[in-house]
Amino acid sequence: MKLLAIVGSPRLKGNTNYLVDQALGEAARLGAQTEKLVLSQYEVNPCLGHKDCASFDSCQQKDDAGWILDRFCQADGVILATPVYWYNVTAQMKAFIDRNYFLYKHDRKSQARAVGVIVVAEMEGIEDTLHTLRQFVDWTFAVEEDRIFIASGYALRPGEVKNNLHLVEEVRKLGRQMVESLKEGS
Ligand SMILES: Cc1cc2nc3c(=O)[nH]c(=O)nc-3n(C[C@H](O)[C@H](O)[C@H](O)COP(=O)(O)O)c2cc1C
Repeated sequence: MKLLAIVGSPRLKGNTNYLVDQALGEAARLGAQTEKLVLSQYEVNPCLGHKDCASFDSCQQKDDAGWILDRFCQADGVILATPVYWYNVTAQMKAFIDRNYFLYKHDRKSQARAVGVIVVAEMEGIEDTLHTLRQFVDWTFAVEEDRIFIASGYALRPGEVKNNLHLVEEVRKLGRQMVESLKEGS
């Protein structure tokens, strides 16, 4: 069972990464093979909006999005994690979402059967951010509603979220629930 986390925060020691590590740690403890991809570590350029996207065999942009999207499609479970930047996902996460347009135009969907969503903010914008991610999840995955797990909460400075014990426990639970639901469905 493969669990892939896509992380939109550029802070490697930040809150989102900490929360994702907690979720993946629990998943690994229950036997999942886990992988974390921090988008800022790779070249994932914004979509260029080719009007003939569907006619191309591969995306015209030769950057890291190609292999990341392949891995995204092959994972059994996917976690999407981002801090709130200006009431929404970060630019890194938005570029990744937009690059999924190639899959959409080629009728390709992720085969994931469980999805996790993790969002952290200083104080405002979690609802808007979750709305964006939910729209993406609904278009991109063929996953049942009871296999979508969401955890969100507040922290500001890098690593501060360690003190938000409720949220830390929520994301650990999210990791466990994803593995349990995948085991049920296999
Ligand atoms: C460019 C930028 C925009 C931000 N916009 C918001 C916002 O709209 N609402 C909010 O509550 N926090 C906002 N924040 C704060 C971050 O969401 C917060 O610091 C979060 O913990 C960062 O997570 P990270 O450590 O995983 O990167 C913003 C931070 C930055 C750098």
